[in-house]
Amino acid sequence: MSDSKFFKAFGGMLMGLVALTVVIFLVANTIGDNSATKLSQADGEKAVAERIQPMGILSISAAAAMDTLIPAANAAADGKGTFDASCAACHGSGVAGAPKLGDKAAWKARIAQGNDTLYKHAIKGYQGKKGFMPAKGGNASLADADVKAAVDYMVAQSK
Ligand code: HEC
Repeated sequence: MSDSKFFKAFGGMLMGLVALTVVIFLVANTIGDNSATKLSQADGEKAVAERIQPMGILSISAAAAMDTLIPAANAAADGKGTFDASCAACHGSGVAGAPKLGDKAAWKARIAQGNDTLYKHAIKGYQGKKGFMPAKGGNASLADADVKAAVDYMVAQSK
């Protein structure tokens, strides 16, 4: 076989291989791009989302549980925060004889007693004519300063 003949034959073979590669590539592409593959990919993403989701819900509900268990941690010494977390259950709507926030008539005589009495009643609790006020609204973890701040907030909103 002369050199030129060899190169011709070899060149032809290379061309054939290139053509075959292109064909295989196209076929593979067609198969790889069919809807079954897309579906399973979407399923995969959904499955991952479903697997991640419980963690998200769990951490959100854990955070919510923390809020319920330790309102003092979030409330610090801000009166409204303490009120919302520990006092609003009764004083928000006036449950069980509790003077309602913003109800001027219900608060007038109470405010007239002076802050010291209000603080003492709020911190230590007391049995009144209308009902029972639990010490610190039943949240013993509150600091006295938090309870006072909540009383100040209630008084300011109710006179
Ligand atoms: C379980 C319900 C309940 C919760 C919770 C509650 N209170 Fe009361 N509170 C009452 C009732 C009932 C009265 C009225 C008692 C009465 O005078 O007969 C009252 C009265 C008061 C008074 C008026 C005291 C007075 O001498 O007239 C203050 C101040 C007060 N609460 C503060 C608070 C604060 C601050 C919180 C939250 C830290 C709180 N309360 C949470 C039920 C509640």
